[in-house]
Amino acid sequence: MSFSISQAKAQVGQSVIIQGWMYNKRGSGKIYFLQLRDGSGTMQGVVETSAGEEVMKKAEELTIESSVRVTGVITQHPKNPEVFEIQVKNIEIVQIAEEYPIGKKEHGPDFLLDNRHLWLRSEKQLAIQRVRDEIIRATFEYFHENGFIKIDTPILSNNACEGSTELFSIDYFGEPAYLSQSGQLYLEAAVMSCGRGFDFGPVFRSEKSKTRRHLTEFWMMDAEVAYCDLEGILQIEEALILHILKRVLENKVKELTTLERDLEPLKKIQGPFIRKTHAEAVAELREMGSDIQEDHDLGGDDETILTKKYDQPIFVTHYPSKVKAFYMKRDESGQRCLCADLLAPEGYGEIIGGSQREEDLVLLKQWMAEHHVPEKGLEWYLDLRRYGSVPHAGFGYGLERIVGWVCGLQHVRETIPFPRLMNRLEP
Ligand code: 4AD
Ligand code: MG
Repeated sequence: MSFSISQAKAQVGQSVIIQGWMYNKRGSGKIYFLQLRDGSGTMQGVVETSAGEEVMKKAEELTIESSVRVTGVITQHPKNPEVFEIQVKNIEIVQIAEEYPIGKKEHGPDFLLDNRHLWLRSEKQLAIQRVRDEIIRATFEYFHENGFIKIDTPILSNNACEGSTELFSIDYFGEPAYLSQSGQLYLEAAVMSCGRGFDFGPVFRSEKSKTRRHLTEFWMMDAEVAYCDLEGILQIEEALILHILKRVLENKVKELTTLERDLEPLKKIQGPFIRKTHAEAVAELREMGSDIQEDHDLGGDDETILTKKYDQPIFVTHYPSKVKAFYMKRDESGQRCLCADLLAPEGYGEIIGGSQREEDLVLLKQWMAEHHVPEKGLEWYLDLRRYGSVPHAGFGYGLERIVGWVCGLQHVRETIPFPRLMNRLEP
């Protein structure tokens, strides 16, 4: 059976082979300490002269990030029984790495992003990917435990879910097509079949803004529920976020500690989440010095200052319809939507956007006209209001925004293995 460093405890005293990389080395001549990693964890390899001249020579030859198979016996660290070492008996060099570009000194973000394919190997970057994986797992788990099924929505499409200003268009056999901004409209069709559904996949927005919250390709989870209103969907959003935090705090404390994430703000989040209408939020923001107008969307800075004030996430509801999408159902005034953005604490801002959907055919057509959304190409979507239309609601989260918040990162670019930004398509 192959050995992994994370399983070391069960193999104390046994001879094993670590297949991995050497990320650092200390010592010379009489003894070498090899810092080894194999993807599952890290471990120190101790090479002493008793291993023989040839093994010592190989230890000397090893450069940072060289790939190696190291044979030896697992021992407990003399001072810390939770730390394990390998007493090296043999070294098989797989490849001697060239001089590694990422060193100990501080590198700027551009240099690190240019070397993203290598930077991913660092302990912190791996920790972020493990937290991301846990959040995905917890998301699927929550939905599957609550009667949802996973529905795969298309990436290639002939319509714009979230407005035409941030669409990536491609040539589709001579016809224009767009990369999906959200699977929502298709999910609405699907839940008229299955009742409760969610999708999860990459979406694309040609964001020209260079902010710490925007990527041009990011991963979205959309969820949709038939026979559900705004209140019902907010309850699901809150339960999902609490479930994600619970799982991360159960299973990924080691990774968050590696990232030097303060766990207290995450532990404090127990619900109920704070609720404010858009009008209340605007009034509060103006008192705090923002120049936000009554009928405007909240800007990134507004979200930052508002969420720094509270230790729970905030649902901001009832935005003016003109700053939100065409499909949202409106309140009695006809000017505001039955919608909510969920803002994460500590200045992180919007992580979820959601709403009740307009289920009435006549009103939906009216909202489409107001938003200049052509009916052509969306006839199928209007059909959903012709054949057994029901009240329904849904939401979508941006995975990278949630990972950034949970990990306490400054910028979403570190949350995704290969970030796509306005000025970056490589590596
Ligand atoms: O608020 P948005 O635009 O909502 C929708 O797309 C709806 N169709 C979802 C639905 O109701 N099913 O996007 C949803 C979330 C945002 O709250 C934000 O977390 C994230 O997607 N997001 C981005 N993340 C990274 N980079 C970007 N450029 C993002 N734009 C939105
Ligand atoms: Mg939004």
